[in-house]
Amino acid sequence: MKALPKLLTPITLRSVTARNRLVVSPMCQYSAGLGMANDWHFAHLSRFALGGFGTVIVEATAVTPEGRITHGDLGLWNDDQMVPLAHIAAFLKARGAVPAIQIGHAGRKASAQRPWEGDAAMTAQDLSERAEAPWKVYAPSSIPHNDGWIVPEVLDQAGIDRIREAFVATARRANTAGFDILEVHCAHGYLMNEFLSPIANTRTDSYGGSLENRMRFPLETFEAVRAVWPQDKPLFVRISAIDGVDGGWSLDDSVAFAKAAAKLGVDVIDTSSGGVGRSYKGPFGPMHQVPFAQAIRERAGIKTMAVGLITKPEEAASIVDHGQADLVALGREALANPQWPLHAQAALTDDPLDYRSWPIQAGFWLRGRAAALARLKRG
Ligand SMILES: Cc1cc2nc3c(=O)[nH]c(=O)nc-3n(C[C@H](O)[C@H](O)[C@H](O)COP(=O)(O)O)c2cc1C
Repeated sequence: MKALPKLLTPITLRSVTARNRLVVSPMCQYSAGLGMANDWHFAHLSRFALGGFGTVIVEATAVTPEGRITHGDLGLWNDDQMVPLAHIAAFLKARGAVPAIQIGHAGRKASAQRPWEGDAAMTAQDLSERAEAPWKVYAPSSIPHNDGWIVPEVLDQAGIDRIREAFVATARRANTAGFDILEVHCAHGYLMNEFLSPIANTRTDSYGGSLENRMRFPLETFEAVRAVWPQDKPLFVRISAIDGVDGGWSLDDSVAFAKAAAKLGVDVIDTSSGGVGRSYKGPFGPMHQVPFAQAIRERAGIKTMAVGLITKPEEAASIVDHGQADLVALGREALANPQWPLHAQAALTDDPLDYRSWPIQAGFWLRGRAAALARLKRG
């Protein structure tokens, strides 16, 4: 039997210790009503805690109603929405996972159809079929996300202040609900990413133009959120390391942004890519975003999380062993196999009897079965 790889050993950020460095990436379920989590969210997220992940991040949770991507998104803009989320956070914690939540605002990509209903701006058909009406969307500039998408209303100073305060109020609620890690969503072409990217932000005031100006709103938000998010709890930020579009946000910009974020008390940069432009032209393939996580970690001196088409235990272990990232997040692979960390442990320790991290209710029997099968094989 081999020793546990670093991937499967605990990591402590501020005062929060995760049992391993495997994270469930935030994944919208488009299954909420009026922003409220329900039994689906409980079951969906619980399986990852039972499956051995160190940290489970709740999907993009809107800070205002119009900041939802779709009618099915979670929200945390009022106190009622805290109740089912607190239940989920408590269960994740009781089963040994760190409960984390991503908070965000969809900007000009709000008021959309669920992916399986078209993944475009809502139409009259959505209204007639599901009584789901489109709403007014807000962005740094009046440039729609794509052909046929709603032309956004340009945020004025009062609108910017209102959304910053909504992030702050949501962060407070996330803490009250029992979450131990907060992630601010600045990726995938949603509001914060729209401020950062010259493709979506053509403002001429102090929030547009230079890199410093485009970073202003997200950085102001981190500062305000950090002031209310407990000092002993980590703050993550998810970014798109590159827009992957000509003339768009670059890796150098991300390094500058990560440095500025670190100074404001951001602990981890969760490194994704794309989402602003119409067609992503960046690298794509297995582990395609890992080099971004590595570059930001090395050049900005901040911890990073790698994500994107990471599927094999050996690859995930190697990312941490080689210092490319501090944490490894799985999205679709976790959907395919919610018990991925438990199977990875057996594979990486080369011990088919290694059921020590499984919930006892299953692990007890599976170990017995594996031992019996091994005996039968020996004859
Ligand atoms: C169903 C689904 C929902 C997603 N929702 C979010 C989200 O709420 N916030 C976010 O930052 N990324 C979201 N993503 C992106 C994932 O977090 C992840 O970065 C992406 O799927 C790449 O990782 P993977 O190859 O392991 O799936 C979503 C992805 C999927 C498949």
